[in-house]
Amino acid sequence: MTWRVPTALPPLPALPGLAALSGPADTPTAVCPRPSAQEFRDVLAHLPAGVSVITTDGPLGPAGMTASAVCSLSMDPPLVLVCLANRSRTLARLLDHGTFAVNVLRQDQEHIARKFADPDTGGHNRFAAAAHRHEADGALILDDALAWLSCRVEETHPGGDHMIVTGRIRALGHTHSRPLIWYARRFNSLA
Ligand SMILES: Cc1cc2nc3c(=O)[nH]c(=O)nc-3n(C[C@H](O)[C@H](O)[C@H](O)COP(=O)(O)O)c2cc1C
Repeated sequence: MTWRVPTALPPLPALPGLAALSGPADTPTAVCPRPSAQEFRDVLAHLPAGVSVITTDGPLGPAGMTASAVCSLSMDPPLVLVCLANRSRTLARLLDHGTFAVNVLRQDQEHIARKFADPDTGGHNRFAAAAHRHEADGALILDDALAWLSCRVEETHPGGDHMIVTGRIRALGHTHSRPLIWYARRFNSLA
């Protein structure tokens, strides 16, 4: 079977945040060997993503940060992938502990996403924004997360200014609600 890619893609939906993105929705593809930081951000702002809080706990104490670079990687073995900035305090703590949890946020948890992304708030102060618990395996889980995964660090791979971390799933769970979405540089929910 031959897959055909449409030459003219439909325009992006008229979400309010898109007004902040440069250029009309049907801007032609640019060929550039090295995009500017602005071009990179403008294009990637069109990629919708769920919003999670990555947590870790252990001998050095808890840490956590908001992340959208999270995806399913493998069913056998069960793996997920997260990408954390090399300068992230949570990354350093997570690598020391060798474990982490992915807490997928609900659409009404924007305040939690903001708190765990705030560079001026660290350590325990971020966790004051959200009720949390420890699972039997020690994973630090936000009580009202839409879904959660407890992982052991499987591998790390350098990825430019980020580190790609794969995690083997040890425990997981979910509730029934709607996800918080990061799109066009703002928080959104499904219509
Ligand atoms: C919606 C959203 C998504 C984010 N996604 C990521 C991500 O995938 N990886 C990352 O390194 N930082 C991401 N950040 C930024 C971090 O949350 C932020 O830099 C945080 O302060 C890092 O905390 P730490 O240094 O205490 O670990 C995101 C921020 C927001 C608001």
